[in-house]
Amino acid sequence: MSTAPSTIVFSGDELQEVDRLKSLYPHSKAAIMPVLWMAQKKWGWLSEDVMKYVATIMDLPYSHVMGVASFYTMYFKKPMGQHHIQVCTNVSCMLRGGVELLEQVKRKLNVANNEATSDGKFSLEEVECMGACGGAPMIAINETFFENMTAEELDRLIAQFQ
Ligand code: FES
Repeated sequence: MSTAPSTIVFSGDELQEVDRLKSLYPHSKAAIMPVLWMAQKKWGWLSEDVMKYVATIMDLPYSHVMGVASFYTMYFKKPMGQHHIQVCTNVSCMLRGGVELLEQVKRKLNVANNEATSDGKFSLEEVECMGACGGAPMIAINETFFENMTAEELDRLIAQFQ
């Protein structure tokens, strides 16, 4: 079995957090999602080597870890930008201009869906409903939601992060 390079390791504190997460569930493997999230936070995305490392510390087959990471779009399987912009184009947001906001980001940052800008500062992802329909149209930048988004506000936000 191949293993992850030795440079990919959680710190002692992070390993303690992994143990704490495992202890929250009747079966420790159920902690795979928060542990993958920790790994993504630390390394920016889930490379094959990172997933192999997670498989080792979770005592799970690599195929299981890869299966979970592949299923959920919130896990990046390639490097994304420092500021990851998610634009919802599902029904409520679409009816209130979500598609236009998506196009605005593409134009403004010269970036395609699911791609990062060449300087690595931004990436873009068109997403399904994020449960904030009451504030449609909405976008998220990393984990912060911005609701009732307008073209002007979007320009302002992008400028703020540039
Ligand atoms: S449709 Fe966009 S958050 Fe629900």
